[in-house]
Amino acid sequence: MGRTVINDQIMVHVTINGESRHALAEPRTLLAYFIRDNLGLTGTHVGCDTTSCGVCTVLLDGVPVKSCTVLAVQADGHDIETVEGLGHNGQLHPLQQAFWDNHGLQCGFCTPGMLMTTTALLRNSVDLTEHEVRRAISGNLCRCTGYVNIVKAVLEAKRRMGEETRKV
Ligand code: FES
Ligand code: FES
Repeated sequence: MGRTVINDQIMVHVTINGESRHALAEPRTLLAYFIRDNLGLTGTHVGCDTTSCGVCTVLLDGVPVKSCTVLAVQADGHDIETVEGLGHNGQLHPLQQAFWDNHGLQCGFCTPGMLMTTTALLRNSVDLTEHEVRRAISGNLCRCTGYVNIVKAVLEAKRRMGEETRKV
C-alpha cells in the first residue's frame, strides 16, 4: 500500500502505548521529535541527539531503541511504548514505584529512558543480577544519581514483580 504524502510530509501510523495514532512527518523527522512534537507525548526526552545519552529510549516492537537514531517513517506500522504507557489508572508501574522508593532519580531527566530500557530487561530476564542491570543501562547516562540506587530499584522491582506473579 502506498504512503500518503501531503506537502512533502508523510503520514506515519503507529500504535503507541496501545493506542492507534497517526500524524504527518517530514522524511527527516526523528522518532523522538515525532513522539514529542507530533504526538504530544513529552515524557520521552532528548538530550544529545547523537545516540549517546539514552534519555530518548523507547520500546519499538518491544525492543529498546534510542529514538533520536530512528526516523519517524521507519516506525510506520510499528508498536511503540513510552514512559506514559507504564502506569495504569493513576497507579505507578512496579518499576516506577521501585525507583521512587529507592531514590533512583534526582532531576529525573534520564528517568524515562532508564525506565524503558529496564522495562524491556525485566520482561526478558528470568533471574537478574546486578551485573546484568549495569550492562543493560550502560547506554543510559545519568548525571545525578551515580547509578547505585537505579540498580537497586531495578533489582527490587524484579523481586516484587516475581512475588506478585507467585501470588496469582
Ligand atoms: S537524545 Fe537520543 S541518545 Fe541522547
Ligand atoms: S536523575 Fe538526573 S540525570 Fe539521572
